[in-house]
Amino acid sequence: MSSKDQNVLMCTFGKEVHEGLTSFPKYLSSKFFYDELGDKLFQKIMDLPEYYLTNAEYDIFQLHKTNILKSFDASKKGFDLIELGAGDGKKTKVLLKELLKESYPVTYHPIDISKHAIDGLVDNLASELSELQVQGQIGEYFEVLDRLKHISDRKKVIMVLGSNIGNLLHPRAIQFLKKLNSVMNTDDEVFIGFDQKKHPQKVLDAYNDKTGVTAAFNKNILTRINRELGGNFDLDAFIHWEVYDPESGTAKSYLVSTKKQTVDIDCLELQVQFEAWESIHTEISQKYDDDTVKWLAEESGFVITDAFSDKDKYYKNYVFKKSE
Ligand code: AVJ
Repeated sequence: MSSKDQNVLMCTFGKEVHEGLTSFPKYLSSKFFYDELGDKLFQKIMDLPEYYLTNAEYDIFQLHKTNILKSFDASKKGFDLIELGAGDGKKTKVLLKELLKESYPVTYHPIDISKHAIDGLVDNLASELSELQVQGQIGEYFEVLDRLKHISDRKKVIMVLGSNIGNLLHPRAIQFLKKLNSVMNTDDEVFIGFDQKKHPQKVLDAYNDKTGVTAAFNKNILTRINRELGGNFDLDAFIHWEVYDPESGTAKSYLVSTKKQTVDIDCLELQVQFEAWESIHTEISQKYDDDTVKWLAEESGFVITDAFSDKDKYYKNYVFKKSE
């Protein structure tokens, strides 16, 4: 292998950037949005008036906390509440407070790939909910789930909030759910959020806010390439573009080159040519309806045993159990 090849393979980021920008059409994965600045920008997105998802899920927790806890059906032995992609835990705190109030014997396991996020959340919970048992875990979802499989013989409730699954097209969502299924025991549950189909304008606005925070979030991937891979992307020569297909329910984000240009990425020894108005696809944010969620669940060996919605029906959290 040449030294160039070795450099390219050294990190997944470089490797995947190389692959995406030499493909036709060009693409980059949204999982690379979330460095320190990306985390901050996403926090800002969650506070935007247009980004209804966070508030809708928060309202679901406020409105239905009693029945949500009932659906967890926790035994006297207690249970492990595992949250994949915990972030700042703002929504989860509503449930955690209720669990403490009702003195459920629970251990909360927030999991995130960001050490920064987990450290912050664990500190915050230690001061705000000091009676709560917390075991933060840093790592990729499945690596940590495998570890948790052996941690206790108690019931597990695995939460996947924020419609994070929406970043995956259906075949990959099924793959993800199947893997979840494979680390679960018969009584374990998944509590999972799916953003719902709604007026297409409402979806478009959520991903194309007036203040340009989402545009900055999308462009942050180019900033990362510039900094970490020695790129020279001119951020002003690309625009953020959002489309939504009401038939498939897929919202897609692009970065569109406003002119013919060449970008150098030194660490990859790569020159990337852009035609005027050529695009880079960066993210999908899938919207769902009950039939689609039911189909995804069945395809991955689950049945839906409960569902909770906000008053506007923008968003829904479902309880999945393993099918017999
Ligand atoms: C965190 C993946 C659920 O797709 O709605 C927000 C990320 N992208 N604005 C989403 C995001 C643009 C968000 N998820």
